[in-house]
Amino acid sequence: MSEPIIEAKKDGPYFIKGPLKLIDASGKETVIDRPWAALCRCGQSQNKPLCDGTHSKIGFKADDAKLYKP
Ligand code: FES
Repeated sequence: MSEPIIEAKKDGPYFIKGPLKLIDASGKETVIDRPWAALCRCGQSQNKPLCDGTHSKIGFKADDAKLYKP
């Protein structure tokens, strides 16, 4: 089994590779039963927490310069 990887796509979602289980704030679990998933970071997906491609329609621009600052 490989390690999970999270990669920020330019002006797009967080692309996650590896087996994973998402748990929301209420404790609801969503098992991702495929080797990858794309998580919305633009906030506009109609299928949260997953990306539905809306970021490209709205012209989302990620401020990745802030991503790695504490
Ligand atoms: S990042 Fe793709 S819909 Fe939000």
